[in-house]
Amino acid sequence: MERTLSIIKPDGVKRGVIGDVVKRFEDSHIDIVAMKMLYMTKKQAQGFYAVHEERPFFDSLTDFMSSGPAVVMVLEGEGVIARYRKLMGATNFEEADEGTIRRDFATDIEKNVVHGSDSPESADFEINYFFNSFEIVA
Ligand code: CMP
Repeated sequence: MERTLSIIKPDGVKRGVIGDVVKRFEDSHIDIVAMKMLYMTKKQAQGFYAVHEERPFFDSLTDFMSSGPAVVMVLEGEGVIARYRKLMGATNFEEADEGTIRRDFATDIEKNVVHGSDSPESADFEINYFFNSFEIVA
């Protein structure tokens, strides 16, 4: 059984697609085992995306991620990291497959509605960044 971190980013919350995104998880039989809304500070966003520190988009990305509330979730299931990445579609919504979350809702390469962990190692770091063990339904 695998876990991954999902974020509905501030653009997704502002545009009212929390329900649409959650529905796709439910329709795909992906279990949500933790969920909360939070408003990240710039520092918290910088810590979360520390792996992208050297990228030219780091400052803009962390400004965006701290620009409004986001919904963070832990998803659980067999192969859920890859399954969720398939549901999200490519980072750049213009390259994302038809029917994916980013293709349907994203407006920009940065404002791409959702985030998902890209490996078991990053899932572990990212889940622990936002949740303690008491907040995850066993
Ligand atoms: P995410 O999957 O959360 O991982 C890193 C984020 O950085 C990515 O989604 C986008 O929001 C953002 N990002 C990635 N590449 C670019 C880019 N070329 N320009 C701007 N933002 C980017």
